[in-house]
Order: sequence, then C-alpha cells, then structure tokens
Amino acid sequence: MAYALEIVDLTAGYDGLPIVRNFSARIATGTVTTLIGGNGAGKSTLMRAIYGSNRWFSGQIVFAGRAIERLPPWERLKLGIGFVPQGRCNFATLSVAENLKIACYTLPRRQHDAAIAPVLELFPFLKDKLGMLAGNMSGGEQQMLETAMVMLLKPRLLLLDEPSLGLSPRMQQDVFEMARRVADTGVTVLMVEQNVHGALRMSDTAIVLELGRKFMEGPADEVMNDPRVSQAYLGVTASEAAAAAPTEAS
Ligand SMILES: Nc1ncnc2c1ncn2[C@@H]1O[C@H](COP(=O)(O)OP(=O)(O)O)[C@@H](O)[C@H]1O
Ligand SMILES: [Mg+2]
Repeated sequence: MAYALEIVDLTAGYDGLPIVRNFSARIATGTVTTLIGGNGAGKSTLMRAIYGSNRWFSGQIVFAGRAIERLPPWERLKLGIGFVPQGRCNFATLSVAENLKIACYTLPRRQHDAAIAPVLELFPFLKDKLGMLAGNMSGGEQQMLETAMVMLLKPRLLLLDEPSLGLSPRMQQDVFEMARRVADTGVTVLMVEQNVHGALRMSDTAIVLELGRKFMEGPADEVMNDPRVSQAYLGVTASEAAAAAPTEAS
C-alpha cells in the first residue's frame, strides 16, 4: 500500500511544552482518516505539527517520500499539504469570487480562472454564490468555501480541523460527503472531528488520541464499534457497549 504520510515517533507542541508524544501513524494515499479524542487531547496540535505551524521536538514526518519535519509551513504547502484550521478563516466582507481569487495568490493571474473552474465542480453550490459576501453564507457553506480555497492550491494531503463544528446535522453530512469526494479524486484527507459517528461512517481509518498519545487505531467501523470509543465519544453506556461488542471466548 502507498502511504501519503508517515509519522514516526513524533513529539511536538509549543515552546517548552511537548503535547503530542511519540506519535506514529501511516496514512494511506487517497483515504479519509479521522482523528478523534477528548478536548485538549492534542488533535489540533498534531494537525499543526503536520503543517509545521507549531514546535517540533523530535521524530519524523515523511510526506511524498521526503522528511519534512524541519521545513516551514510554506515549504510544506508547496510540497502539497493543505491545511484548513479550526474556526472560520475566509474574508467575510469579500465576495465568494474574491475569496477564491485571493486563494490563488501563489499562481500567476492568468491561471486563476483555470484553477477555479475544477474546484467549483467539486463544490457546485458555490457557482450560484460567487457574488455573495462570504460572511453572509451559512457556517457550513463558509467551511466548504475555505476548503475550496485550500483545494485551489492542489494539495495532495488535505488537513481539516473540525470541519463540521457548529453546523446543522444536514450541513455536517454535506461536509463529510465533501471530504469523501475530495478523497475520491486521489487526495488524502486527514480530519479531526467531534461528530464521531457522522465522520467515522464515511472514513476509511480512525485514530484515537488521548493525552497526546495514540490510544487506538484501525478501520473506522471497528473503532466506532469498540466499546471504549462508544462509551467515551458516542454517549453509549458501558452495559449497552458491552452488549453491542462482539463476544470474546474467555
Ligand atoms: N498555542 C498554544 N500554546 C501553548 N499550549 C497550547 C497552545 N494551543 C494548545 N495548547 C495546549 O495543548 C493541549 C492540546 O490542545 P489542542 O491540540 O488544541 O487539543 P484538541 O484539539 O485535541 O482539543 C492543551 O493542553 C492546550 O492547552
Ligand atoms: Mg482542536
């Protein structure tokens, strides 16, 4: 199997403050992997470490066959890592079309329209909203715009930090389907999600992070059905989880 990303014994965090410790994982190319874990587990810290916007202490991050852990974020972006951070990050007082053009900043002006067209096919609803102020769209629509802005840079690895945060159940579903569509174009998607059930239903793989360390990893359906995950993240009681779990011969 080909891996888009290999992380080996990574310790990362903030100045003088390691948060994610001895983390290793391999993310297969063209798959959706969801990272779950309690508040403060270090999920955002791990995403920032992959993008390079916080402090690296030790370990390796291999992307497209290259060790990138010492590269600054803009170099990682050039290599094909796109990051949509947690929270709103568009230009609210500019139109959707203007936001998309700004996102083409690394491309020569004459290439902008050609870059935007295929991304609009990935997010067709944006075609009807080009003249609208980004800040007037719903939270879910803004999330998709922000992802579209990052997709303009043609990333090979897309990092999404809590893309469904604050959205209606319907819009959350749309965001997860968008992640799936992106992965189906061959882009590898790694996302952090609090909507564990919704996200894992359309993910290939799940990783559970607790207190900065990898706690569990596996096919998304197996992780979702694990009693420890059901109890901690899906609001299922211990006895319900035990009843739902496959019985093991003792
Ligand atoms: N910029 C920062 N500087 C110092 N510590 C931080 C910073 N951002 C987050 N932390 C700390 O890192 C830990 C993990 O935070 P975070 O990665 O945001 O968790 P999660 O995304 O899983 O909720 C928390 O203890 C938090 O206080
Ligand atoms: Mg976070």
